[in-house]
Amino acid sequence: MKYTQGKYIITEKQAIAREIYSLTISCPEVAAAAQPGQFVHIRANGFTLRRPISICGIDREKGTLRIVFEIRGEGTAEIARLNTGDLIDMLAPLGHGFTTEGIGKAIMVGGGIGTPPMLPLAQIFGKNGTVIAGFRNAAAVILQDDFRKTGADVVPCTDDGSYGWHGLVTEPLAAAIERDKPDAVFACGPMPMLKGVAKVCADAGVYCEISLEERMACGIGACLGCACRTKRNDEEYFAHVCKDGPVFKAEEVIW
Ligand SMILES: Cc1cc2nc3c(=O)[nH]c(=O)nc-3n(C[C@H](O)[C@H](O)[C@H](O)COP(=O)(O)OP(=O)(O)OC[C@H]3O[C@@H](n4cnc5c(N)ncnc54)[C@H](O)[C@@H]3O)c2cc1C
Ligand code: FES
Repeated sequence: MKYTQGKYIITEKQAIAREIYSLTISCPEVAAAAQPGQFVHIRANGFTLRRPISICGIDREKGTLRIVFEIRGEGTAEIARLNTGDLIDMLAPLGHGFTTEGIGKAIMVGGGIGTPPMLPLAQIFGKNGTVIAGFRNAAAVILQDDFRKTGADVVPCTDDGSYGWHGLVTEPLAAAIERDKPDAVFACGPMPMLKGVAKVCADAGVYCEISLEERMACGIGACLGCACRTKRNDEEYFAHVCKDGPVFKAEEVIW
């Protein structure tokens, strides 16, 4: 695994929804190596343990990465205090990302703050991609214009029907698969959503990869802090979400 640790300059900061921020970071060597589905591990000022945040944008020409995160606790609140021109301490890029080689047509499914890692994938697939993104309500909807700019077919969904499709992402997912079977489905979001997406794909015989979230410490496979039960070749084993994942084949996860 090739990663670097450094302090990088923030070139842009935007508030994109209530307590949700987008940061663009100048880090050419990280941008050159980063893959969709990988994450950056950020040390917030005053905290020893880093906070993992998915990569939401990779611009190799400009040498920048974009991250989008929600304030959940003290660590993310501290990161949100950083401004354009400040330095951010990152260990990156980390983890095992999505498999895009050999995939022609893909559906990306994001749930809430699990939607950002779907953006670099949508940029790869362009008009051969469909993005289905679920949120609690219209106020929580993020990144829809960015997804539309990729050329993908974009299907926003909300639990309360205040924006887009009224209901869960699994319904438009099943319909999209039936209309035009993709080579792969990629998903990131809350566990119940991932479980539902994995079932729809298994029933339809579609290859599926999901990105799991687990609390993390080292982020590089050294502390056993992020173990999760998976199976490979029918054998159960404890994987490290930070190193073996965060992206796993859906069929390998023990739910
Ligand atoms: C691989 C990976 C990628 C992630 N990508 C993003 C992202 O792109 N954007 C984003 O906003 N968040 C992302 N997260 C979640 C983010 O890391 C946590 O919200 C953050 O670490 C919380 O830190 P805190 O100090 O603010 O909150 P804490 O005070 O540590 O916790 C606040 C609340 O968040 C929960 N929490 C803490 N860590 C996690 C975690 N790893 N997963 C789920 N819940 C957690 C706690 O249980 C608690 O309820 C990702 C997590 C992982 C593992
Ligand atoms: S966070 Fe240390 S092993 Fe994964």
